[in-house]
Parts: sequence; structure tokens; C-alpha cells
Amino acid sequence: MNFSGKTAVVTGAASGMGLLFCRKFADLGGNAVLTDINKQSVEEKAEEINSKYPGRAAAAECDVRDYSRVCAVRDLAVQKFGSIDVLVNFAGGAETRMLGVSGEFPDIPINVYDWGIDVNLKGQFYFDHAVMKQMREQKSGVIINIGSITGEEGCATNVAYSASKSAAMNGLTKSLALYGQQYGIRCLCISPGPVLTRPGMAFMRTALGRAAEPEEIVDMVLYAASEKGQFLDGINILMDGGRNILRQKD
Ligand SMILES: NC(=O)c1ccc[n+]([C@@H]2O[C@H](COP(=O)([O-])OP(=O)(O)OC[C@H]3O[C@@H](n4cnc5c(N)ncnc54)[C@H](O)[C@@H]3O)[C@@H](O)[C@H]2O)c1
Repeated sequence: MNFSGKTAVVTGAASGMGLLFCRKFADLGGNAVLTDINKQSVEEKAEEINSKYPGRAAAAECDVRDYSRVCAVRDLAVQKFGSIDVLVNFAGGAETRMLGVSGEFPDIPINVYDWGIDVNLKGQFYFDHAVMKQMREQKSGVIINIGSITGEEGCATNVAYSASKSAAMNGLTKSLALYGQQYGIRCLCISPGPVLTRPGMAFMRTALGRAAEPEEIVDMVLYAASEKGQFLDGINILMDGGRNILRQKD
């Protein structure tokens, strides 16, 4: 895989898989625009990449729920690097864990679910919408949304996360693949099972008896974004170590 001269805009790039993707994308020759709500961290991480590959990373603070900031990130990427060839929407998370709330579904305040839907669904929708405008002009590009096994199987404790990462992501992805075909733009979704960006994920069962290393998922995202992945379009790739075939899950 070679990303020389290509530019990726990556949300949720201050940590976890988003950060790893940016590092590897730069290792493979590309430019990375790291965007995250965590300003300090995203600036430090971009600086790290720039110290290895001068001028090939940019940082942009952005809350994915703020459409005007989303457009500003797109404009910054184009101004600095001339194009956006890849968009990956890693920003997200399960609302009760991210906001430190627990309880039964009807007892959890609705603003917690607003967060879950706004970040996991609307955030991806906003970035896809803003960046599609640039990709249409270029007549090229690939958009990669991030789903989750939790979207496929449901989750009583993170209902908004599950709803956002399932049918919503499938509908968004397929619709944009249908729209994008006339402009040479691909769109797909990658849905991981448990990934060891946090030690807690080791306890989720899979058929393979382990959680994924972040690199295993990120390598798939890189493949999908590259020339090698040109035939992937309009699909949801469930990369879950066989969790979906287990009868009893925990
Ligand atoms: N880790 C897993 O087991 C797993 C499994 C399935 C799906 N996923 C999904 O993969 C993606 C990345 O997961 P990760 O484990 O690397 O997560 P992570 O928590 O390490 O990274 C998520 C990033 O999103 C950022 N973020 C949160 N809210 C934001 C907002 N409003 N605007 C902009 N940025 C925001 C955070 O600051 C963080 O840097 C997430 O969408 C997650 O739901 C993860």
C-alpha cells in the first residue's frame, strides 16, 4: 500500500484506532489531518508525526457535533494539502461509558442518549456530508464509517450507541455509495468487535477467544482506503473474531 500524495481526514485521531491509523497512513507516505475534540492531545500527536515526516500532519480541534467546525476542518485540509482522498470517522463511543452514567434505559436522562446519537450518528453524517462536497469536485475519494458489533447485536445499556452504529450506519453507508458512484467515490463501513484500545474489551467473548489488537482493525481500514481495496463499496465489514456466531454472549 502506498499513500504518497494522498490525504486522509481522520476524526477521533487523538487516541486509539484513529491515532494508529494516522501514524500508519503517514508511514505509508500519506498526509494526515488529525481531528478530535481533545485539542491538546491532537496537537501533540500531529507534532509527533511531523517530527518524523515534516509537514505531513495537521491538527484541528473539532467537536463532530458542530457542523460549522466540521466544514472548517474540511477547508483546512484542502487548503493545506490540496485534496481529501480518504475520510475515516473514528470519533465515537458508548454513551453511558463515555459520560459515566448507569441505570436502566428509561431512567437514564435523555441528554445522555442525545450525546450517543449526536456523536456516533450525526458526527459521521456531518463529516460525510461536508467532505463529500470536496470529493465530488475531485471526482474521487473513499469514505469509511465506523460501526460496531454492538450495532448488530443490540445493547441494553448503550441503546443510542447500538442504534447509531447499526441500521443507521448501514443506511448512511449504502446511500452514500449509491450517490458517490457517479463521481468515483466509494463509501463503506467497518464494524469491529472488541478491540484492545481499552483493557476492558478483553472480557467480551469471541469465537476466536480473544479481542482484536487495534492494528488488526486499522490494517483493514488502510486496505479498504488503498488501491488494493478498490472493489469494496457499499458494504459493512464485520470484523469481530466470530462473535456474531456465538449463541450466548456476554
Ligand atoms: N474499542 C472497541 O472495542 C471498539 C469496538 C467497536 C467499535 N469501536 C469504535 O471504533 C471507534 C474508535 O474506537 P477507539 O477504541 O479507538 O476509541 P477511543 O476512545 O480511543 O477514541 C475515540 C476518540 O473520539 C474522540 N471523541 C469523542 N467525542 C468526540 C466528539 N464529540 N468530537 C470529536 N471527537 C470526539 C475522543 O476524544 C477519542 O480521542 C469508535 O467509534 C468506537 O465506537 C470500538
